[in-house]
Amino acid sequence: MAPAKRSLILVLCFLAPVLFSAVPWLRAASGQGRLLAATPPMGWNDWAHYQCGFTAQAILSNARALVKTGLAARGYNTVTIDDCWMLKDRNASGNLQADPQRFPQGMKAVAGAIHALGLKFGIYEDAGSATCGRFAGSGQPQGGGKDHFLKDARLFASWGVDYLKLDGCNVYAPPGSSQEAAYRKAYAAESAALKAVGRPIVFSESAPAYFQGTPEWYDVLTWVRLYGQLWREGSDMANFNAGNPNRSRFRSVLWNYAYNLPLGRFQKPGNWNDADFIIGGDGGMSLAESRSQLALWSMMSAPLILSSDVGKLSPQAIAILGNRAVIAIDQDPLGRMATLVRRSPDVDVLFKALADGDDAVAALDRSAAPVQVDLRPSEFGFAANAACRMDARNLWTGAVQSAVAALHARIAAHDTAIWRIRPSAACGRPARKGTIVMTTTSRRRDVEDYTRCLSAAGRVEACAGDAGESWIVTPGGALQSSDARCLVAAKSGPVLAACRPVPAQRWRYTLKGNLINAADRQCLTAAGPARKTQSLKLQPCEDNQPNQIWSLPN
Ligand code: GAL
Repeated sequence: MAPAKRSLILVLCFLAPVLFSAVPWLRAASGQGRLLAATPPMGWNDWAHYQCGFTAQAILSNARALVKTGLAARGYNTVTIDDCWMLKDRNASGNLQADPQRFPQGMKAVAGAIHALGLKFGIYEDAGSATCGRFAGSGQPQGGGKDHFLKDARLFASWGVDYLKLDGCNVYAPPGSSQEAAYRKAYAAESAALKAVGRPIVFSESAPAYFQGTPEWYDVLTWVRLYGQLWREGSDMANFNAGNPNRSRFRSVLWNYAYNLPLGRFQKPGNWNDADFIIGGDGGMSLAESRSQLALWSMMSAPLILSSDVGKLSPQAIAILGNRAVIAIDQDPLGRMATLVRRSPDVDVLFKALADGDDAVAALDRSAAPVQVDLRPSEFGFAANAACRMDARNLWTGAVQSAVAALHARIAAHDTAIWRIRPSAACGRPARKGTIVMTTTSRRRDVEDYTRCLSAAGRVEACAGDAGESWIVTPGGALQSSDARCLVAAKSGPVLAACRPVPAQRWRYTLKGNLINAADRQCLTAAGPARKTQSLKLQPCEDNQPNQIWSLPN
Protein backbone atom coordinates (compact mmCIF):
# COMPACT_ATOMS: atom_id res chain seq x y z
CA MET A 1 0.00 0.00 0.00
CA ALA A 2 1.29 3.48 -0.83
CA PRO A 3 2.43 5.39 2.28
CA ALA A 4 0.02 8.24 1.56
CA LYS A 5 -2.90 5.84 1.37
CA ARG A 6 -1.77 4.07 4.56
CA SER A 7 -1.56 7.28 6.54
CA LEU A 8 -5.01 8.32 5.28
CA ILE A 9 -6.40 5.02 6.58
CA LEU A 10 -4.59 5.54 9.88
CA VAL A 11 -6.02 9.04 10.24
CA LEU A 12 -9.52 7.72 9.47
CA CYS A 13 -9.12 4.90 12.02
CA PHE A 14 -8.06 7.47 14.58
CA LEU A 15 -10.91 9.86 13.76
CA ALA A 16 -13.65 7.24 13.56
CA PRO A 17 -14.30 6.90 17.32
CA VAL A 18 -14.18 10.69 17.70
CA LEU A 19 -16.70 11.16 14.90
CA PHE A 20 -18.80 8.32 16.23
CA SER A 21 -18.96 9.80 19.72
CA ALA A 22 -20.09 13.08 18.19
CA VAL A 23 -23.08 11.46 16.49
CA PRO A 24 -25.57 12.00 19.32
CA TRP A 25 -24.46 15.59 19.55
CA LEU A 26 -24.73 16.04 15.80
CA ARG A 27 -28.14 14.41 15.88
CA ALA A 28 -29.28 16.66 18.68
CA ALA A 29 -27.98 19.73 16.93
CA SER A 30 -29.64 18.79 13.66
CA GLY A 31 -32.83 18.01 15.63
CA GLN A 32 -33.12 21.72 16.27
CA GLY A 33 -33.50 22.31 12.57
CA ARG A 34 -36.26 19.72 12.30
CA LEU A 35 -39.80 20.67 13.22
CA LEU A 36 -40.38 19.69 16.84
CA ALA A 37 -43.87 18.34 17.54
CA ALA A 38 -44.81 18.20 13.86
CA THR A 39 -47.97 16.45 15.09
CA PRO A 40 -49.69 17.06 18.44
CA PRO A 41 -47.67 15.68 21.38
CA MET A 42 -48.99 12.52 23.06
CA GLY A 43 -48.20 11.01 26.42
CA TRP A 44 -49.11 10.91 30.07
CA ASN A 45 -48.90 13.35 32.99
CA ASP A 46 -49.62 12.67 36.67
CA TRP A 47 -51.46 15.88 37.57
CA ALA A 48 -55.20 15.38 36.97
CA HIS A 49 -55.16 12.03 38.73
CA TYR A 50 -52.56 12.40 41.49
CA GLN A 51 -51.92 16.15 41.96
CA CYS A 52 -49.07 16.20 44.52
CA GLY A 53 -49.80 12.67 45.78
CA PHE A 54 -47.14 10.77 43.80
CA THR A 55 -43.72 9.20 44.15
CA ALA A 56 -41.20 7.90 41.62
CA GLN A 57 -42.91 4.54 42.02
CA ALA A 58 -46.28 5.84 40.81
CA ILE A 59 -44.65 7.59 37.87
CA LEU A 60 -42.73 4.49 36.82
CA SER A 61 -45.66 2.13 37.28
CA ASN A 62 -47.72 4.36 34.96
CA ALA A 63 -44.85 4.39 32.47
CA ARG A 64 -44.73 0.58 32.54
CA ALA A 65 -48.52 0.42 32.20
CA LEU A 66 -48.36 2.59 29.07
CA VAL A 67 -46.04 0.00 27.55
CA LYS A 68 -47.96 -3.03 28.83
CA THR A 69 -51.39 -1.81 27.68
CA GLY A 70 -49.98 -1.02 24.23
CA LEU A 71 -50.92 2.65 24.61
CA ALA A 72 -47.25 3.68 24.29
CA ALA A 73 -47.05 1.87 20.95
CA ARG A 74 -50.16 3.79 19.84
CA GLY A 75 -48.28 7.05 20.40
CA TYR A 76 -48.68 7.95 24.08
CA ASN A 77 -44.94 8.11 24.55
CA THR A 78 -43.97 11.07 26.75
CA VAL A 79 -44.18 10.69 30.53
CA THR A 80 -44.26 14.07 32.25
CA ILE A 81 -43.86 14.74 35.96
CA ASP A 82 -45.95 17.77 36.94
CA ASP A 83 -45.76 20.14 39.92
CA CYS A 84 -44.46 19.17 43.40
CA TRP A 85 -41.46 17.12 42.24
CA MET A 86 -38.93 19.59 43.64
CA LEU A 87 -38.08 21.14 46.98
CA LYS A 88 -38.98 24.72 47.86
CA ASP A 89 -35.31 25.72 47.96
CA ARG A 90 -32.36 25.34 45.63
CA ASN A 91 -29.11 23.66 46.72
CA ALA A 92 -25.82 25.42 47.53
CA SER A 93 -24.93 25.66 43.85
CA GLY A 94 -28.29 27.20 43.04
CA ASN A 95 -29.73 24.10 41.37
CA LEU A 96 -33.22 22.72 41.73
CA GLN A 97 -33.41 19.60 43.87
CA ALA A 98 -35.82 16.72 43.39
CA ASP A 99 -37.74 15.97 46.59
CA PRO A 100 -35.73 13.06 48.11
CA GLN A 101 -38.86 11.62 49.73
CA ARG A 102 -40.53 11.20 46.36
CA PHE A 103 -37.38 10.54 44.34
CA PRO A 104 -34.85 8.80 46.60
CA GLN A 105 -32.72 7.90 43.57
CA GLY A 106 -32.84 11.40 42.13
CA MET A 107 -34.40 12.58 38.89
CA LYS A 108 -31.74 11.38 36.48
CA ALA A 109 -32.44 7.79 37.52
CA VAL A 110 -36.17 8.25 36.85
CA ALA A 111 -35.41 9.77 33.45
CA GLY A 112 -33.13 6.83 32.70
CA ALA A 113 -35.80 4.29 33.67
CA ILE A 114 -38.36 6.07 31.47
CA HIS A 115 -35.95 6.20 28.54
CA ALA A 116 -35.12 2.52 29.06
CA LEU A 117 -38.81 1.75 28.46
CA GLY A 118 -38.49 3.46 25.08
CA LEU A 119 -40.43 6.51 26.31
CA LYS A 120 -39.63 10.20 26.48
CA PHE A 121 -39.28 12.17 29.67
CA GLY A 122 -41.05 15.43 30.46
CA ILE A 123 -40.88 17.73 33.45
CA TYR A 124 -42.79 20.69 34.93
CA GLU A 125 -41.44 24.07 35.94
CA ASP A 126 -42.81 27.57 36.30
CA ALA A 127 -42.04 30.93 34.67
CA GLY A 128 -42.48 32.72 37.99
CA SER A 129 -40.64 32.82 41.30
CA ALA A 130 -42.50 29.71 42.52
CA THR A 131 -44.67 27.00 40.99
CA CYS A 132 -48.42 26.94 41.58
CA GLY A 133 -47.72 24.54 44.46
CA ARG A 134 -45.15 27.09 45.78
CA PHE A 135 -42.05 25.04 44.99
CA ALA A 136 -38.91 26.64 43.47
CA GLY A 137 -39.69 28.35 40.15
CA SER A 138 -37.33 29.18 37.27
CA GLY A 139 -38.40 32.83 36.95
CA GLN A 140 -37.31 36.06 38.58
CA PRO A 141 -37.80 36.37 42.33
CA GLN A 142 -40.57 38.70 43.51
CA GLY A 143 -39.16 42.20 43.67
CA GLY A 144 -36.70 41.47 40.85
CA GLY A 145 -33.34 39.71 40.55
CA LYS A 146 -31.74 36.91 38.59
CA ASP A 147 -33.85 34.25 36.94
CA HIS A 148 -32.79 30.60 36.60
CA PHE A 149 -34.03 29.76 33.12
CA LEU A 150 -30.65 28.85 31.65
CA LYS A 151 -29.36 27.13 34.77
CA ASP A 152 -32.49 24.99 35.02
CA ALA A 153 -32.54 24.23 31.30
CA ARG A 154 -28.95 22.95 31.61
CA LEU A 155 -29.95 20.75 34.52
CA PHE A 156 -32.96 19.40 32.60
CA ALA A 157 -30.80 18.66 29.56
CA SER A 158 -28.29 16.84 31.79
CA TRP A 159 -31.14 14.68 33.07
CA GLY A 160 -32.28 13.89 29.54
CA VAL A 161 -35.52 15.90 29.59
CA ASP A 162 -37.39 15.77 26.26
CA TYR A 163 -40.42 17.92 27.11
CA LEU A 164 -40.90 20.90 29.42
CA LYS A 165 -44.24 22.23 30.67
CA LEU A 166 -43.66 25.77 31.93
CA ASP A 167 -46.53 26.97 34.10
CA GLY A 168 -47.26 30.63 34.83
CA CYS A 169 -47.97 31.11 38.54
CA ASN A 170 -46.20 33.90 40.47
CA VAL A 171 -44.70 35.72 37.50
CA TYR A 172 -43.17 38.99 38.73
CA ALA A 173 -44.01 42.11 36.74
CA PRO A 174 -41.59 44.94 37.62
CA PRO A 175 -43.06 48.43 38.08
CA GLY A 176 -43.84 49.92 34.69
CA SER A 177 -44.18 46.52 32.98
CA SER A 178 -47.56 45.05 32.09
CA GLN A 179 -48.36 41.52 33.21
CA GLU A 180 -48.43 40.51 29.57
CA ALA A 181 -44.95 41.94 28.90
CA ALA A 182 -43.58 40.17 32.00
CA TYR A 183 -44.98 36.82 30.79
CA ARG A 184 -43.63 37.37 27.32
CA LYS A 185 -40.16 38.13 28.66
CA ALA A 186 -40.17 35.00 30.82
CA TYR A 187 -41.39 32.63 28.10
CA ALA A 188 -38.97 34.12 25.56
CA ALA A 189 -36.13 33.62 28.07
CA GLU A 190 -37.05 29.95 28.58
CA SER A 191 -37.24 29.43 24.82
CA ALA A 192 -33.77 30.93 24.38
CA ALA A 193 -32.43 28.80 27.24
CA LEU A 194 -33.80 25.61 25.69
CA LYS A 195 -32.18 26.50 22.37
CA ALA A 196 -28.89 27.20 24.12
CA VAL A 197 -28.64 23.78 25.77
CA GLY A 198 -28.55 21.99 22.42
CA ARG A 199 -31.09 19.26 23.15
CA PRO A 200 -34.43 19.15 21.32
CA ILE A 201 -36.93 19.78 24.13
CA VAL A 202 -40.61 20.25 23.30
CA PHE A 203 -41.76 23.43 25.06
CA SER A 204 -45.31 23.62 26.44
CA GLU A 205 -46.28 27.14 27.54
CA SER A 206 -49.04 27.83 30.05
CA ALA A 207 -48.93 31.61 29.55
CA PRO A 208 -52.27 32.07 27.72
CA ALA A 209 -54.18 30.29 30.49
CA TYR A 210 -53.31 33.20 32.80
CA PHE A 211 -55.09 35.64 30.48
CA GLN A 212 -58.23 33.66 29.64
CA GLY A 213 -61.24 35.97 29.68
CA THR A 214 -59.12 39.14 29.34
CA PRO A 215 -58.45 41.12 26.13
CA GLU A 216 -54.71 40.33 26.41
CA TRP A 217 -55.51 36.63 25.83
CA TYR A 218 -55.32 37.26 22.10
CA ASP A 219 -51.99 39.07 22.40
CA VAL A 220 -50.49 36.14 24.29
CA LEU A 221 -51.93 33.67 21.76
CA THR A 222 -50.15 35.53 18.97
CA TRP A 223 -46.68 35.28 20.59
CA VAL A 224 -46.57 31.83 22.21
CA ARG A 225 -46.17 30.30 18.75
CA LEU A 226 -42.81 32.10 18.44
CA TYR A 227 -41.34 30.36 21.48
CA GLY A 228 -42.83 26.90 21.95
CA GLN A 229 -44.66 23.99 20.37
CA LEU A 230 -47.90 23.95 22.41
CA TRP A 231 -49.73 26.12 24.89
CA ARG A 232 -52.47 25.80 27.45
CA GLU A 233 -55.04 28.49 26.75
CA GLY A 234 -57.42 28.01 29.60
CA SER A 235 -58.72 26.43 32.72
CA ASP A 236 -57.78 22.96 33.96
CA MET A 237 -59.65 19.75 33.40
CA ALA A 238 -61.42 18.72 36.64
CA ASN A 239 -59.07 16.67 38.82
CA PHE A 240 -59.77 13.14 40.01
CA ASN A 241 -60.95 13.18 43.59
CA ALA A 242 -60.15 9.95 45.45
CA GLY A 243 -62.70 10.90 48.12
CA ASN A 244 -65.46 11.12 45.50
CA PRO A 245 -64.11 9.10 42.56
CA ASN A 246 -67.32 9.03 40.51
CA ARG A 247 -68.11 12.74 40.66
CA SER A 248 -68.81 13.64 37.04
CA ARG A 249 -66.02 15.48 35.23
CA PHE A 250 -67.67 15.71 31.81
CA ARG A 251 -68.66 19.34 32.24
CA SER A 252 -64.99 20.30 32.38
CA VAL A 253 -64.34 18.28 29.21
CA LEU A 254 -67.09 20.19 27.40
CA TRP A 255 -65.81 23.53 28.66
CA ASN A 256 -62.23 22.92 27.55
CA TYR A 257 -63.54 21.75 24.19
CA ALA A 258 -65.67 24.92 24.00
CA TYR A 259 -62.80 27.35 24.51
CA ASN A 260 -60.29 25.40 22.39
CA LEU A 261 -62.46 24.97 19.28
CA PRO A 262 -62.64 28.65 18.20
CA LEU A 263 -58.82 29.00 18.22
CA GLY A 264 -58.06 27.15 14.97
CA ARG A 265 -56.32 30.10 13.39
CA PHE A 266 -53.47 29.90 15.93
CA GLN A 267 -52.46 26.31 15.24
CA LYS A 268 -50.35 24.58 12.60
CA PRO A 269 -47.83 21.73 12.54
CA GLY A 270 -45.32 22.52 15.28
CA ASN A 271 -47.72 24.89 17.10
CA TRP A 272 -50.65 23.44 18.99
CA ASN A 273 -53.51 24.71 21.12
CA ASP A 274 -53.60 22.45 24.19
CA ALA A 275 -57.07 21.75 25.60
CA ASP A 276 -55.51 19.98 28.62
CA PHE A 277 -55.44 16.35 29.69
CA ILE A 278 -57.34 13.34 28.41
CA ILE A 279 -59.19 12.16 31.51
CA GLY A 280 -61.25 9.65 29.52
CA GLY A 281 -61.25 6.25 31.21
CA ASP A 282 -60.58 7.75 34.63
CA GLY A 283 -63.08 8.17 37.49
CA GLY A 284 -65.99 10.51 36.73
CA MET A 285 -66.04 9.74 33.00
CA SER A 286 -68.43 7.21 31.42
CA LEU A 287 -67.35 5.24 28.35
CA ALA A 288 -69.55 7.45 26.14
CA GLU A 289 -67.90 10.54 27.64
CA SER A 290 -64.47 9.01 27.18
CA ARG A 291 -65.25 8.37 23.49
CA SER A 292 -66.40 11.97 23.20
CA GLN A 293 -63.23 13.37 24.69
CA LEU A 294 -60.92 11.37 22.44
CA ALA A 295 -63.01 12.11 19.34
CA LEU A 296 -63.29 15.85 20.07
CA TRP A 297 -59.59 16.24 20.92
CA SER A 298 -58.71 14.34 17.75
CA MET A 299 -61.01 16.51 15.61
CA MET A 300 -59.20 19.53 17.10
CA SER A 301 -55.68 18.07 16.62
CA ALA A 302 -55.19 18.70 20.33
CA PRO A 303 -52.31 17.10 22.26
CA LEU A 304 -53.38 13.71 23.68
CA ILE A 305 -51.87 13.64 27.15
CA LEU A 306 -53.50 11.05 29.38
CA SER A 307 -53.82 11.87 33.05
CA SER A 308 -55.21 8.83 34.81
CA ASP A 309 -54.03 5.74 36.68
CA VAL A 310 -53.11 3.79 33.54
CA GLY A 311 -52.83 0.47 35.37
CA LYS A 312 -56.48 0.77 36.42
CA LEU A 313 -57.97 1.62 33.03
CA SER A 314 -60.63 -0.88 31.97
CA PRO A 315 -60.11 -2.91 28.77
CA GLN A 316 -62.94 -0.88 27.19
CA ALA A 317 -61.25 2.39 28.12
CA ILE A 318 -57.92 1.16 26.72
CA ALA A 319 -59.68 0.23 23.49
CA ILE A 320 -61.17 3.73 23.25
CA LEU A 321 -57.98 5.61 24.10
CA GLY A 322 -55.92 3.35 21.87
CA ASN A 323 -58.24 3.47 18.85
CA ARG A 324 -55.76 3.75 15.98
CA ALA A 325 -58.19 5.23 13.48
CA VAL A 326 -59.24 8.02 15.87
CA ILE A 327 -55.63 8.73 16.86
CA ALA A 328 -54.81 9.01 13.15
CA ILE A 329 -57.34 11.87 12.91
CA ASP A 330 -55.54 13.63 15.76
CA GLN A 331 -52.11 13.00 14.29
CA ASP A 332 -53.04 13.92 10.72
CA PRO A 333 -50.11 15.84 9.22
CA LEU A 334 -52.28 18.81 8.14
CA GLY A 335 -52.98 19.55 11.80
CA ARG A 336 -56.25 21.35 11.09
CA MET A 337 -58.63 22.43 13.78
CA ALA A 338 -62.14 21.09 13.16
CA THR A 339 -64.70 23.47 11.73
CA LEU A 340 -67.91 23.86 13.75
CA VAL A 341 -70.42 22.99 11.03
CA ARG A 342 -73.38 23.63 13.29
CA ARG A 343 -74.27 23.96 16.94
CA SER A 344 -77.83 23.34 18.11
CA PRO A 345 -78.94 23.27 21.76
CA ASP A 346 -78.18 19.51 21.76
CA VAL A 347 -75.71 18.65 19.02
CA ASP A 348 -72.38 19.90 17.61
CA VAL A 349 -71.31 18.78 14.14
CA LEU A 350 -67.61 19.03 13.26
CA PHE A 351 -65.70 18.64 9.99
CA LYS A 352 -61.98 18.46 9.30
CA ALA A 353 -59.99 18.00 6.10
CA LEU A 354 -57.20 15.40 6.21
CA ALA A 355 -53.87 15.23 4.40
CA ASP A 356 -54.68 12.30 2.09
CA GLY A 357 -57.89 13.83 0.70
CA ASP A 358 -60.16 12.04 3.16
CA ASP A 359 -62.11 14.07 5.70
CA ALA A 360 -63.25 13.48 9.26
CA VAL A 361 -66.76 14.18 10.55
CA ALA A 362 -67.96 14.02 14.13
CA ALA A 363 -71.25 14.65 15.89
CA LEU A 364 -71.41 15.24 19.64
CA ASP A 365 -74.59 14.77 21.64
CA ARG A 366 -74.26 17.31 24.45
CA SER A 367 -77.72 16.53 25.79
CA ALA A 368 -78.83 13.99 28.39
CA ALA A 369 -80.87 11.95 25.86
CA PRO A 370 -80.05 10.06 22.63
CA VAL A 371 -80.31 12.02 19.38
CA GLN A 372 -80.62 11.07 15.73
CA VAL A 373 -78.29 12.86 13.29
CA ASP A 374 -78.44 12.85 9.49
CA LEU A 375 -75.55 14.57 7.78
CA ARG A 376 -75.34 15.39 4.09
CA PRO A 377 -72.02 16.21 2.40
CA SER A 378 -73.38 19.58 1.24
CA GLU A 379 -73.39 20.65 4.91
CA PHE A 380 -69.62 20.24 4.95
CA GLY A 381 -69.14 22.33 1.84
CA PHE A 382 -69.28 19.64 -0.86
CA ALA A 383 -71.29 20.11 -4.05
CA ALA A 384 -75.01 19.69 -3.45
CA ASN A 385 -75.59 17.22 -6.27
CA ALA A 386 -77.10 13.76 -6.16
CA ALA A 387 -73.96 12.20 -7.65
CA CYS A 388 -71.91 13.23 -4.59
CA ARG A 389 -71.54 10.07 -2.50
CA MET A 390 -69.22 9.12 0.32
CA ASP A 391 -67.44 6.00 1.46
CA ALA A 392 -67.60 6.19 5.22
CA ARG A 393 -66.02 4.33 8.10
CA ASN A 394 -67.51 4.66 11.56
CA LEU A 395 -64.33 4.87 13.65
CA TRP A 396 -65.84 3.45 16.84
CA THR A 397 -67.62 0.46 15.31
CA GLY A 398 -65.33 -0.03 12.30
CA ALA A 399 -68.44 -0.37 10.10
CA VAL A 400 -67.80 0.65 6.50
CA GLN A 401 -70.42 1.95 4.09
CA SER A 402 -69.89 2.58 0.40
CA ALA A 403 -71.30 5.37 -1.75
CA VAL A 404 -73.81 6.70 0.77
CA ALA A 405 -75.63 9.99 0.25
CA ALA A 406 -75.64 10.84 3.96
CA LEU A 407 -74.32 9.74 7.34
CA HIS A 408 -76.90 8.60 9.83
CA ALA A 409 -76.39 7.80 13.48
CA ARG A 410 -78.26 7.51 16.70
CA ILE A 411 -75.94 8.98 19.29
CA ALA A 412 -76.26 8.19 22.99
CA ALA A 413 -76.27 10.98 25.57
CA HIS A 414 -72.78 12.54 25.90
CA ASP A 415 -71.41 10.29 23.15
CA THR A 416 -69.71 11.32 19.90
CA ALA A 417 -69.94 9.56 16.55
CA ILE A 418 -66.87 9.95 14.35
CA TRP A 419 -66.33 8.94 10.74
CA ARG A 420 -63.55 9.04 8.22
CA ILE A 421 -65.09 9.76 4.83
CA ARG A 422 -63.87 9.62 1.26
CA PRO A 423 -66.09 11.76 -0.96
CA SER A 424 -66.57 10.70 -4.59
CA ALA A 425 -65.13 12.81 -7.41
CA ALA A 426 -68.57 14.35 -8.03
CA CYS A 427 -68.41 15.98 -4.60
CA GLY A 428 -65.49 18.22 -5.60
CA ARG A 429 -63.29 19.75 -2.91
CA PRO A 430 -65.13 21.19 0.07
CA ALA A 431 -65.70 24.92 0.40
CA ARG A 432 -64.81 26.50 3.77
CA LYS A 433 -68.28 26.09 5.17
CA GLY A 434 -69.72 26.26 8.67
CA THR A 435 -70.58 28.64 11.46
CA ILE A 436 -69.08 32.06 12.08
CA VAL A 437 -69.02 32.47 15.83
CA MET A 438 -68.16 35.04 18.43
CA THR A 439 -67.30 34.02 21.96
CA THR A 440 -68.66 35.66 25.09
CA THR A 441 -66.85 36.64 28.26
CA SER A 442 -69.46 34.79 30.30
CA ARG A 443 -68.11 32.96 33.32
CA ARG A 444 -70.62 30.12 33.14
CA ARG A 445 -68.19 27.73 31.46
CA ASP A 446 -70.84 26.26 29.25
CA VAL A 447 -70.62 25.43 25.53
CA GLU A 448 -73.91 27.04 24.57
CA ASP A 449 -73.39 30.11 26.68
CA TYR A 450 -69.87 30.67 25.32
CA THR A 451 -70.71 31.07 21.63
CA ARG A 452 -72.97 33.28 19.55
CA CYS A 453 -73.61 32.59 15.87
CA LEU A 454 -73.68 35.01 12.96
CA SER A 455 -76.98 34.51 11.15
CA ALA A 456 -78.10 35.28 7.62
CA ALA A 457 -80.76 37.50 9.20
CA GLY A 458 -77.89 39.93 9.70
CA ARG A 459 -77.53 39.51 13.43
CA VAL A 460 -75.61 37.62 16.10
CA GLU A 461 -77.67 35.26 18.21
CA ALA A 462 -77.71 32.15 20.39
CA CYS A 463 -76.62 29.30 18.09
CA ALA A 464 -79.67 27.33 16.92
CA GLY A 465 -78.03 24.99 14.43
CA ASP A 466 -80.17 26.02 11.45
CA ALA A 467 -79.19 26.74 7.84
CA GLY A 468 -79.19 30.49 8.47
CA GLU A 469 -76.05 30.00 10.58
CA SER A 470 -74.12 28.26 7.80
CA TRP A 471 -71.63 30.37 5.84
CA ILE A 472 -69.12 29.81 3.06
CA VAL A 473 -65.88 31.77 3.21
CA THR A 474 -64.93 32.07 -0.46
CA PRO A 475 -61.29 32.03 -1.63
CA GLY A 476 -61.75 35.74 -2.46
CA GLY A 477 -62.78 36.56 1.13
CA ALA A 478 -66.55 36.90 0.69
CA LEU A 479 -68.90 35.66 3.41
CA GLN A 480 -71.71 33.86 1.65
CA SER A 481 -74.91 32.80 3.42
CA SER A 482 -76.74 29.54 2.72
CA ASP A 483 -79.27 31.43 0.57
CA ALA A 484 -76.31 32.53 -1.61
CA ARG A 485 -76.22 36.18 -0.54
CA CYS A 486 -73.05 37.93 0.61
CA LEU A 487 -72.30 40.18 3.55
CA VAL A 488 -71.64 43.68 2.26
CA ALA A 489 -70.48 46.87 3.97
CA ALA A 490 -73.33 49.22 2.99
CA LYS A 491 -73.67 52.86 4.10
CA SER A 492 -76.26 51.76 6.65
CA GLY A 493 -73.96 49.02 8.01
CA PRO A 494 -73.38 45.35 7.12
CA VAL A 495 -76.29 43.82 5.16
CA LEU A 496 -76.81 40.77 2.94
CA ALA A 497 -77.07 41.36 -0.78
CA ALA A 498 -76.55 39.59 -4.10
CA CYS A 499 -72.93 38.42 -4.31
CA ARG A 500 -70.70 40.59 -6.52
CA PRO A 501 -66.89 40.78 -6.74
CA VAL A 502 -66.60 44.21 -5.11
CA PRO A 503 -64.33 45.35 -2.26
CA ALA A 504 -67.33 46.03 -0.01
CA GLN A 505 -67.99 42.26 -0.02
CA ARG A 506 -64.39 41.29 0.72
CA TRP A 507 -63.36 40.64 4.32
CA ARG A 508 -59.79 40.19 5.48
CA TYR A 509 -59.45 37.78 8.40
CA THR A 510 -56.61 38.56 10.81
CA LEU A 511 -54.79 36.31 13.27
CA LYS A 512 -56.40 38.24 16.12
CA GLY A 513 -59.80 37.27 14.66
CA ASN A 514 -60.97 40.56 13.14
CA LEU A 515 -62.97 40.66 9.89
CA ILE A 516 -61.83 43.84 8.16
CA ASN A 517 -63.81 45.12 5.21
CA ALA A 518 -61.71 45.79 2.09
CA ALA A 519 -63.71 48.88 1.09
CA ASP A 520 -63.99 50.89 4.27
CA ARG A 521 -61.28 49.15 6.38
CA GLN A 522 -63.63 48.89 9.33
CA CYS A 523 -64.29 45.83 11.48
CA LEU A 524 -67.40 43.67 11.52
CA THR A 525 -68.80 44.38 14.99
CA ALA A 526 -71.66 42.95 17.04
CA ALA A 527 -73.66 45.76 18.61
CA GLY A 528 -75.81 45.80 21.72
CA PRO A 529 -75.81 43.86 24.99
CA ALA A 530 -73.81 40.64 24.64
CA ARG A 531 -76.45 38.34 26.13
CA LYS A 532 -79.17 39.47 23.72
CA THR A 533 -79.60 39.10 19.98
CA GLN A 534 -77.16 41.65 18.57
CA SER A 535 -77.25 43.68 15.39
CA LEU A 536 -74.24 44.18 13.10
CA LYS A 537 -72.24 47.35 12.69
CA LEU A 538 -69.06 48.53 11.07
CA GLN A 539 -66.71 50.23 13.47
CA PRO A 540 -63.05 51.16 13.57
CA CYS A 541 -61.04 48.09 14.59
CA GLU A 542 -59.97 48.26 18.21
CA ASP A 543 -57.31 46.11 19.81
CA ASN A 544 -58.81 42.84 21.11
CA GLN A 545 -62.36 44.18 21.35
CA PRO A 546 -64.42 41.03 22.09
CA ASN A 547 -67.36 42.02 19.88
CA GLN A 548 -64.97 42.26 16.90
CA ILE A 549 -63.35 38.83 17.27
CA TRP A 550 -64.75 36.02 15.11
CA SER A 551 -64.02 32.39 14.54
CA LEU A 552 -64.38 31.19 10.94
CA PRO A 553 -64.51 27.76 9.26
CA ASN A 554 -60.93 26.48 9.03
C1 GAL B 1 -51.92 24.48 37.05
C2 GAL B 1 -51.87 23.74 35.73
C3 GAL B 1 -52.07 22.27 36.01
C4 GAL B 1 -51.00 21.80 36.95
C5 GAL B 1 -50.99 22.64 38.22
C6 GAL B 1 -49.82 22.30 39.12
O1 GAL B 1 -51.68 25.83 36.83
O2 GAL B 1 -52.86 24.22 34.87
O3 GAL B 1 -52.04 21.54 34.79
O4 GAL B 1 -49.76 21.89 36.30
O5 GAL B 1 -50.92 24.01 37.91
O6 GAL B 1 -49.77 23.10 40.24
